[in-house]
Amino acid sequence: MTSWTVAVVGGGQLARMMGEAASALDIRLQALVEAPDGSAGKVLPGSLVGAAHDRAKVDELVAGADVLTFEHEMQDGDHLRALAARGVSVQPSVDALTFAQNKLAMRSRLAELGVECPAWAEVATPRELQSFGDAVGWPVIVKLPSGGYDGKGVRLVDSPEDVADWFRGAGAGGLGGESRTESALLVEECVPFTRELAALVARNPSGEIRAWPVAETVQANGVCSEVTAPAPGLDPALAERAQQIAVTIAEGLDVTGVLAVEMFAVEGEGRITVNELAMRPHNSGHWTIDGAVTSQFEQHLRAVLDLPLGETTAKVPWSVMVNLLGSSLSDPREAYPELMAKYPGAKVHLYGKGVRPGRKLGHVTACGDDLEAAREVARGAVALLRGDDA
Ligand SMILES: Nc1ncnc2c1ncn2[C@@H]1O[C@H](COP(=O)(O)OP(=O)(O)OP(=O)(O)O)[C@@H](O)[C@H]1O
Ligand SMILES: [Mg+2]
Repeated sequence: MTSWTVAVVGGGQLARMMGEAASALDIRLQALVEAPDGSAGKVLPGSLVGAAHDRAKVDELVAGADVLTFEHEMQDGDHLRALAARGVSVQPSVDALTFAQNKLAMRSRLAELGVECPAWAEVATPRELQSFGDAVGWPVIVKLPSGGYDGKGVRLVDSPEDVADWFRGAGAGGLGGESRTESALLVEECVPFTRELAALVARNPSGEIRAWPVAETVQANGVCSEVTAPAPGLDPALAERAQQIAVTIAEGLDVTGVLAVEMFAVEGEGRITVNELAMRPHNSGHWTIDGAVTSQFEQHLRAVLDLPLGETTAKVPWSVMVNLLGSSLSDPREAYPELMAKYPGAKVHLYGKGVRPGRKLGHVTACGDDLEAAREVARGAVALLRGDDA
């Protein structure tokens, strides 16, 4: 019998926003959070507190839930397999999740599927890296296969010297002590993209798929700063191809829930290559909360419960989402009186986190018929939350 309970591992803003969608549908979202006063722990009553790798806690989390899902990919695959063998519905499955956890596994699987990627190689030694760079041209991009996020674990490299620490296995230190067991690194050509795109789709276990309009994303220092949907002026044929790539990946990897495919577009050449995958709601899809008929958070819940999916069409011609990354205000809510007076159309989403330099504290979405006006509202509102001097 359905208990309308979804268990989610993770206590950040994604679980928090999933909670808003769950609340509207009267679905119970039971979260396993890192801290009771974190982004999700604060607002989801009855959250369990523990690490994603705490097996006893995960067992407790799934008891009485219809399905187990995640807000990040750093999960204990062996334990999830054991749970699935015991009959727990794990969405997405461990087999799918592997390709979002490990960029080397993702690259080889996408190659098998015939999905175009930047030129890449697995390198275990500085010498192998040297020959790759000599072949495709320097600089190249070197990535830790797993554990990276927000551009940590990604380096623009002019010579093997620049990643000597990673070859010595010291990559772990920069990533919060995540233990790194792989010995190899992923190296890629540095793609001269005209812009970055994100194709967002959702798929349920029955195989139904829906795709949102393709968005343009802007990354600053490896962190997403702004998203515009749909991607302005994108050749419709390229947009369709981007969606088709995401559908091919969702089906080929048997992904369930939301799948975000980050892509590079080289528009002069009509070329699109895949950067990476996320199997959960994604920063590039936050605009859907205010700008689309069905938000990515609602859709993720529907998908993992194997319910019919909602419409993914945009409700307005343009949506612009700007991230709030750090603030000089001790509490960004101090800006509310001015912000709300000046930008009545701005939709503010704060994640309930303490202020730290560069930290993702929230986002603002502005929607409308006029792209420039929407940009101005979203950027202006975020500037106030950031405490920028006028
Ligand atoms: N092959 C490449 N060529 C050019 N730029 C790249 C390449 N790979 C990554 N980048 C740049 O670095 C950014 C971060 O890379 P990537 O998405 O792989 O890292 P991440 O840390 O996993 O990021 P996320 O925050 O999405 O989890 C990309 O959005 C892009 O701007
Ligand atoms: Mg990325």
